[in-house]
Amino acid sequence: MGKNKIILPKPFFVLAPMDDVTDTVFRQVIAGCAPPDVFFTEFVNVDALQSAGRTATLPRLLHTPAEKPLIAQIWGKTPENYYKSAQDMVAMGFDGIDINMGCPVKDVVRNGCCSALINNRGLAAEIIQATKDGAGSLPISVKTRLGYHNIDYSWHEFLFEQNLNALSIHGRTRKQMSKVPANWEAIGEIVKLRDKISPTTKIIGNGDVSTRAQGMELAARYSLDGIMIGRGVFNNPFVFSSEDIWQTYSPRQRKDLYAKHVKLFAKTWKNNEKPLVVLNKFCKIYINGFDGAKELREKLMQTKTTNELLALL
Ligand SMILES: Cc1cc2nc3c(=O)[nH]c(=O)nc-3n(C[C@H](O)[C@H](O)[C@H](O)COP(=O)(O)O)c2cc1C
Repeated sequence: MGKNKIILPKPFFVLAPMDDVTDTVFRQVIAGCAPPDVFFTEFVNVDALQSAGRTATLPRLLHTPAEKPLIAQIWGKTPENYYKSAQDMVAMGFDGIDINMGCPVKDVVRNGCCSALINNRGLAAEIIQATKDGAGSLPISVKTRLGYHNIDYSWHEFLFEQNLNALSIHGRTRKQMSKVPANWEAIGEIVKLRDKISPTTKIIGNGDVSTRAQGMELAARYSLDGIMIGRGVFNNPFVFSSEDIWQTYSPRQRKDLYAKHVKLFAKTWKNNEKPLVVLNKFCKIYINGFDGAKELREKLMQTKTTNELLALL
């Protein structure tokens, strides 16, 4: 991976990028529980970053040394803005840059971004080149899906011709959104293509992995370099551990872990960059699996300040 070599185990485990979830606060909590081998930021729009929207976008790029190695995930329309943003990522100390070519959300796709690029290879190639030109020696990867309407291996062939350091494949098409189980057989077919076209590109499989053991098994079965886990952290913040720690966590320990998250939130967003309601989506992760958890969640979600929330915890 060029000068910025990151030595990773095989398979390596990755915390998936999740918009409004995997910010610096949550990444720090996960790092304190059981860190993955690689972290990703939420997706960051390059066109906003290179415009008047820059100030509002910068909190997405905030990070601390605890969340390392950290890949900045970017998306957008204009190659020039990818170029400038890649330069920003170098200056901000990221360990790599990932381009989102998989997000299926309607507004994003209508605007020609993310999974729409599956059907616009000219622009996809320009975006990858512009990012490489701005990134110096940082590794470049793409995160994508199996295809747009149907599985389309010509898309992955095209990506392998772009000489990427890594490719993350979420095992569904754009059309499937998240409605059907991930197709790991198809991810295995993409590994075979990689072996023929671009043997040095690392492949990271993604979709529905809920335990480390399951990830190990899938990596072995399909010869994958890495496994990416997203929603699995919602059921187990220790999902990257090889030990079953979360099951043994007492109600007190679960509340303390949420308190840690809330304190980090208060410290990080002290200028009100994020409203308190953002915490509600995390509450269920921690306040779960014990008698009275539901009632406590309801009370916690009605609090108006972090101090009130912490007092209740
Ligand atoms: C709340 C949420 C936000 C997401 N945001 C992003 C994102 O910003 N960038 C991205 O590439 N994928 C995003 N995804 C997709 C995940 O990275 C991942 O591909 C998907 O959830 C499947 O993996 P999983 O079954 O392990 O969750 C998001 C998923 C969720 C649930």
